[in-house]
Parts: sequence; C-alpha cells; structure tokens
Amino acid sequence: MEYLVLLQNGLVVLFTIAISWKLITYMWGSLKMEKEPMKVLVTGYAIAPMIGRGIMLGPDQPVILHLLDIAPAAEALMGTILSPEVHATIDVTEACKDVNIAIMLGGFPLKEGTERKDMMSKNVPIYKEQASALEEHAASDCKVLVVANPANTNALILKEFAPSIPEKNITCLTRLDHNRALSQIVERLKVYITDVKNVIIWGNHSSTQYPDVNHATVTTINGERPVKELDTDDHWLKNEFINTVQQRGVAIIKARKASSALSAVCAACDHMRDWVLGTPKGTWVSMGVYSDGSYGIPRDIIYSFPVKCEEGKWSIVKGLKIDEFSRAKMDAIAKDLIDEKEVAHSCLN
Ligand code: LMR
Repeated sequence: MEYLVLLQNGLVVLFTIAISWKLITYMWGSLKMEKEPMKVLVTGYAIAPMIGRGIMLGPDQPVILHLLDIAPAAEALMGTILSPEVHATIDVTEACKDVNIAIMLGGFPLKEGTERKDMMSKNVPIYKEQASALEEHAASDCKVLVVANPANTNALILKEFAPSIPEKNITCLTRLDHNRALSQIVERLKVYITDVKNVIIWGNHSSTQYPDVNHATVTTINGERPVKELDTDDHWLKNEFINTVQQRGVAIIKARKASSALSAVCAACDHMRDWVLGTPKGTWVSMGVYSDGSYGIPRDIIYSFPVKCEEGKWSIVKGLKIDEFSRAKMDAIAKDLIDEKEVAHSCLN
C-alpha cells in the first residue's frame, strides 16, 4: 500500500517537472530577442541576393544592405531597391555610414590582354577613396573583404588609408582559389567535396599564388587520410594541380570574356560566413590577411594564410611543417607582393 502511494507521488512530481520544463522553454523561446541588424556595404551587385537570403551571415541574421555604385550605373542601381532593407546610392559617404561589414567587389576587371599594372592604376585610387570613407563613417569594428583585383594590394591600400579600422579586420579573398584547389582534388580522387579539407592557398590572389596540399586530408571509410597518401603522383601535385588553380581566373576570362562572377560571390559568402560564424572544428580555410610575420613572411603585406575562425576572429594556423619546395614558392610570392605594393604607391602619386 505504502509503495503505491510513493509511486503515485513520484509520478505527480515527474509530471509537474515535465510540465514546468515545457512552460519554461516555451516562455524562453518567445522571449528570445531577434539579432540586431547588420549593415552590409556592397560595391558590386551580384552578391546582394545571396546576402539577403542569409547565405553569408545566416538565416537568423537581419541585414540592411548598402549598395554603392558609380554615377554611370545609377539608374540600374536604383532599380535594385525592392525593399526598405536595401539602400542604393552613388554617394560613398552615405554608403559607408555605420556599416558593420564591407564587401568590396567593385573595380575595373582584368580583361583579356589587359596588363595587371593598367588595372592597378585604375583600381588603387578607387580603394584609397573608399578607404577614407570607411575610415570616417563605418562602424569602428567593420569587417572588410576585398574581392576586386589586385585584391591583396587593394586591401593593403585600404588598410593604409583607413588606419582606425583594426588591421585584423581588413582581408582579401583567396577562398575562390581555395575552393578551386578543393575541386581539383575532388575531381582527381573522385571523392565528395565535403570530405576534403585543409588545402592552403599561400600568398597572392594572382597566378603566382601557391596552392599547397601537403596538409590536406580526405575523410574515407578508413578515417582521415592525407591527400598525398591517396595521390602519390608528386609530379601532378607539383605541376598540373598548381598550374590549374593558378590559371583558373585567366582561363575563365578567356572563356567568358569576363571575370568569374558566381564562383567569386559564392567564395565571398564562404569567406565572410566562416569569419563571422566560425570554421568547423579541425578545419582551416585560406584568407588574405595582414601578415604578422608567421612562417617567415614579411610584415606589412596582405598575404594568404591558413586560418581558423572563432567568435568573429581569425587566427593563423601555426606550426605547419614547410618543406623546401613550399618555402621557395612562399618567399617568391612575398617578394611579388612587396613589388606590387611599390607599383600601387606609384599609382597614387
Ligand atoms: C578570378 O580569379 O577568377 C579573378 O580574380 C580573375 C580576374 O582577374 O578577375
């Protein structure tokens, strides 16, 4: 009899706990605040729908888009205003006002037959002007991603002319090359892209970049295996693989008579999403960042390194073993970037 009463009491307690728990979680859910909207500056247009759909910052992140273009494109630009969350303008000051994120896609593209130096003489002054506007009007912790070429050097100029934006907040896109390197491995080894990770793009987003698979792995039914163990053809890895990734941008311009568009904006979304929301555990990605001297790369250039991201901050993956072949390539790119910096400064005189 006593047992029955005890059991009954126990059931009543359990039932009360379950109901209270349900009530608490329901009330917590309805109390949960919506995230503060982020203001995102975009120079260039193709990426805007992806940001609007939450592909860059997550579906629960409200965004207010600031679209900036040059005066001749004003009419087309104004046609993009379809909702109150989109502001389109040709006024750089207005566009930069309080932005938390800036995606700098705009610039004169490299066309077939154009010299890199000619493109630089057009784009570098644009980046100086936009840097000054960001310096004065953007949020103090604005995160900047430069996509337009020469991406590393444009980012460096932006850093120089926006000195109050923390240097760790100014980056350039090499995720496009990173994704291209992953695709090469996928095609070669006939595996899924989600199973390949930790390739590295060192250096410059140009045909001198160094795509490196020395630390890359593939998840197989036998666990994680190094790419170099699954593909022992060193000649392919040191030649065709590297050349294909390095030359992909040029190949696209040749085929389309225009620069890559969709793959570039997808990569820009990947770059920003991982920076803001974090890289998966055990995975790194490539980002062009201000060199802190890691791996013996000189400071004062924007150089692509392997990085991990957590809580809105990136950090360079340290301690990777660098062989002689890689060392020579990494140093040569650093020298290229130092030369490019000089050319950029000469474009400003
Ligand atoms: C790309 O890599 O596809 C582009 O950066 C090429 C270019 O010069 O526009």
